[in-house]
Amino acid sequence: MNIAVIGLGYWGPNLLRNLYESQTTEKLIACDLDETKLQRIKLKYPTVEIESDYQKLLRRDDIDAAIVATPVSLHFPIAHALLEAGKHVFVEKPMTQNSQEAEKLVETAEKNNRVLMVGHTFEYSPPVLKIKELIDSKELGDVYYISMSRVNLGLHQKDVSVIWDLAPHDFSMLFYWLNQQPKRISAMGKDCVQKNIPDVAFINIEFPDGCIANMQVSWLAPSKLRRTAIVGNKKMLVYDDTENIEKVKIYDKGVEYKDPETFGEYQLSYRSGDIISPYIQNFEPLRREMNHFIECCQNGKKPISDGRSGLRVIKALEAAEKSLRNNSQVVEIA
Ligand SMILES: NC(=O)c1ccc[n+]([C@@H]2O[C@H](COP(=O)([O-])OP(=O)(O)OC[C@H]3O[C@@H](n4cnc5c(N)ncnc54)[C@H](O)[C@@H]3O)[C@@H](O)[C@H]2O)c1
Repeated sequence: MNIAVIGLGYWGPNLLRNLYESQTTEKLIACDLDETKLQRIKLKYPTVEIESDYQKLLRRDDIDAAIVATPVSLHFPIAHALLEAGKHVFVEKPMTQNSQEAEKLVETAEKNNRVLMVGHTFEYSPPVLKIKELIDSKELGDVYYISMSRVNLGLHQKDVSVIWDLAPHDFSMLFYWLNQQPKRISAMGKDCVQKNIPDVAFINIEFPDGCIANMQVSWLAPSKLRRTAIVGNKKMLVYDDTENIEKVKIYDKGVEYKDPETFGEYQLSYRSGDIISPYIQNFEPLRREMNHFIECCQNGKKPISDGRSGLRVIKALEAAEKSLRNNSQVVEIA
């Protein structure tokens, strides 16, 4: 396959490196408006072709697919043009700026029978895959609730709130694990530093099966947290992505309610057993993600993080932002 990578700022070169090193492509084309960035790529990967105008890629029959890693405002126009030109498309997260654009991309991919995949990188990361396995096998029992924190003293964005910047990853993990569409979302937040750009948000999510989740995202926090706790009726789990080893720990802890046999008998029994850190394979999520994209393009398979899962995340981001800006009013997801 011949693949173009459009946008070689901070993130694009990581995607290009993985495509280059995996040696699964015949031709790689790097495209960016910035000539210096292109020259840097050429120096590092002499066999990669360079191009500054993405429109020219649309007219090339030798290009099968493209990766879009430009600023978010350009995801839709570039991805849409690529799909209409008959290319398979991988778009970085968040897929688009709003759900209308996301719906249009999904429709266009389906109409043209092309693969549309979104860069929900965590869905390809070893700890997240392990957790999916544990949830699906009912190791934790039924999930009561999930609580997630993604906070740090981070880079304040000028054009989007902290929700659009940090929550796409957590929403994508949450929906991937639970394999459900949220029912209701509400959020509270504050623009502490820049007026009208919320830099802290607390988001509440309800799922049709009764599971609830809470997500904290912030660019204004004393230390870096990337922590998820999942509480089931059998066991509990903590996933700490800042740990180098033992990122996932399963706690054999819980509380059971026993019907009293006699009046006044204590009704709750607490269980505190082993804490286990399961074996987790070690591989680069981006390698797995890029290989999956290529495999889907070659075999006509539906990607794990397909356009519809991209749309699901966009709808959740929109709902959280809408609630935050309307006094935490609950937003129902259609
Ligand atoms: N999956 C992840 O974990 C992850 C991590 C970081 C960033 N991202 C996403 O990757 C995307 C890019 O982020 P970034 O931080 O690399 O941004 P960036 O601003 O550093 O890079 C964007 C690049 O796009 C180029 N560009 C702009 N307009 C173009 C055009 N018309 N044609 C070709 N190139 C053009 C710019 O010159 C720049 O080099 C964003 O969508 C971001 O959300 C994803």
